[in-house]
Amino acid sequence: MPNITLSRKQQLAFNVLADPYVVELLFGGGAGGGKSLLVTMWMVIECRKYPGITIGLGRKEMSNLGKTTVATLLTEAHKYLGVSADDFTYKAPGSPQPGIYYKNGSAITLHDLAYAPSDPNYDRFGSLPLTHAVIEEVGELDLTAVSAFASRANRKLNREYSITGKTVMTCNPSNNFAREEFYDPFEKLGGGDMQSWPCGDVFVDGKLRIGQSKSSGAIRYGPTHTSRQPRAEPPSTS
Ligand SMILES: Nc1ncnc2c1ncn2[C@@H]1O[C@H](COP(=O)(O)OP(=O)(O)OP(=O)(O)O)[C@@H](O)[C@H]1O
Ligand SMILES: [Mg+2]
Repeated sequence: MPNITLSRKQQLAFNVLADPYVVELLFGGGAGGGKSLLVTMWMVIECRKYPGITIGLGRKEMSNLGKTTVATLLTEAHKYLGVSADDFTYKAPGSPQPGIYYKNGSAITLHDLAYAPSDPNYDRFGSLPLTHAVIEEVGELDLTAVSAFASRANRKLNREYSITGKTVMTCNPSNNFAREEFYDPFEKLGGGDMQSWPCGDVFVDGKLRIGQSKSSGAIRYGPTHTSRQPRAEPPSTS
């Protein structure tokens, strides 16, 4: 199995993703900084660790996901993590229920997050149970699309495994909602590599942690964003 050495920023993001208090991470930075590779490696590790989970992977245009992120996942993340061709099946964008389906029952499902006039409130995500939500190139999207998709996290085996459902987003610097929700607070807090701030409540180890301060509740990491909705225990599981 080939070795990989994570960059300092990738290592930071990886550590943040292992923290059960963290509910949102915006992984920003310039093109080629290794965001997609880190995020795909994290998804594969989660899928291998927790049989049966579903991670939703979305982007404005699903066809772009197939050409970029999924290509990175299949050719690089799988290689570095020792996933072989018979460990999974891949349904490409365009086929029914596109995604990467692992032998242990876990899946990374692919989703088109583009606005459609026939579905202005994104009702198409209404019954989608996800463990985590991952959104690539969040700068292409508005907050409605991102919030609708992100709200589906925490609904698939999170309680059973005590997994904090996370919304993980990547972007290049952009002027959309991510600036206000992530970059502005990040800069106010002093900038640097990353900053974190409280963003509501979260269940950790079966206990509700009230988000009054950075060390007691849910955390958003940035350059990163979050809505104020509490991240309570999942309402239903399947
Ligand atoms: N830690 C690493 N070690 C070796 N190569 C790496 C590492 N991280 C990333 N790369 C290489 O850099 C390439 C670009 O990385 P990646 O696609 O993850 O960047 P990105 O930040 O998502 O870029 P973009 O903003 O264009 O989406 C990868 O395909 C991979 O080959
Ligand atoms: Mg990328």
